[in-house]
Amino acid sequence: MSNNLLKGKRGIIFGALDDKSLAWKVAERCVEEGATITLTNAPVALRFGQLKELGEKLNAKVIAADATSVEDLENLFTESMEALGGKIDFVLHSIGMSINVRKKREYTDLKYEWMQKTLDISALSLHKLLQVAYKMDAINDWGSVVALSFLAAQRTFPQYNEMAESKALLESISRSFGYHYGAEKKVRINVISQSPTMTTAGSGVHQFDRFFDYADNMAPLGNAPAEACADFTVTMFSDLTRYITMQTLFHDGGFSSMGMSASILPTEMG
Ligand SMILES: NC(=O)c1ccc[n+]([C@@H]2O[C@H](COP(=O)([O-])OP(=O)(O)OC[C@H]3O[C@@H](n4cnc5c(N)ncnc54)[C@H](O)[C@@H]3O)[C@@H](O)[C@H]2O)c1
Repeated sequence: MSNNLLKGKRGIIFGALDDKSLAWKVAERCVEEGATITLTNAPVALRFGQLKELGEKLNAKVIAADATSVEDLENLFTESMEALGGKIDFVLHSIGMSINVRKKREYTDLKYEWMQKTLDISALSLHKLLQVAYKMDAINDWGSVVALSFLAAQRTFPQYNEMAESKALLESISRSFGYHYGAEKKVRINVISQSPTMTTAGSGVHQFDRFFDYADNMAPLGNAPAEACADFTVTMFSDLTRYITMQTLFHDGGFSSMGMSASILPTEMG
């Protein structure tokens, strides 16, 4: 169902890899709500993922950009403004990758070169895209930028490894840049802290299915699905949320406020 919440708005969506990706669902919902968008991902993801297919379906130009490359990001904003016919109103940062997790290195045995790459891809990329947009004056006043995070930024989840530091840094950048971009251009920057979701990045976490079930049982509403994340993200891009900025917003069925749940301890409490 469409409420035309994003009618006439132009957006850039980072990080749709396949139809499980959170960014994929967000892209579909944005277009359904009347936006025109460009889609972007790392060159390697364009070769192996299904982004071209989504671009055809949504009539969206697909532009390759490694989110760690300032040059690629400058090109992305230039090409997006040309393709969409003006400045950008919203951006989704949906990028995460841990080299140490991928190579199965434990948190107590991290390879620091890989960790720096992880932080660059998963967190500094937000600063880079914001700095590029800021210097190019590429985002309209009252524009909205959303990045996706997880509760491991605040609480310890051993399986999450170095991604915990990535998310803590990501959230800090959203606040710090949120000040500068807000004061200068009224652009707002927020982070949505999402439930565990079955995607390529999610499944990289050790024993992800057990982790998913635990959160699902803990949260009174259950885990928030990707489609609901897309709905929420659309409201954050819309004019209905104009005074929310520099926030980490928990979209997790209540998981982040729980201490203990009857469904985890049925004999004691149920
Ligand atoms: N799946 C979950 O459980 C979950 C929960 C909370 C937050 N998140 C966050 O949501 C975001 C999206 O992840 P997802 O779960 O949809 O998985 P996903 O694997 O579909 O998306 C991750 C994306 O990051 C892209 N990427 C990696 N390196 C890049 C680079 N150098 N330049 C540009 N793009 C690059 C990948 O190509 C991929 O499209 C991530 O930030 C992730 O940490 C996921």
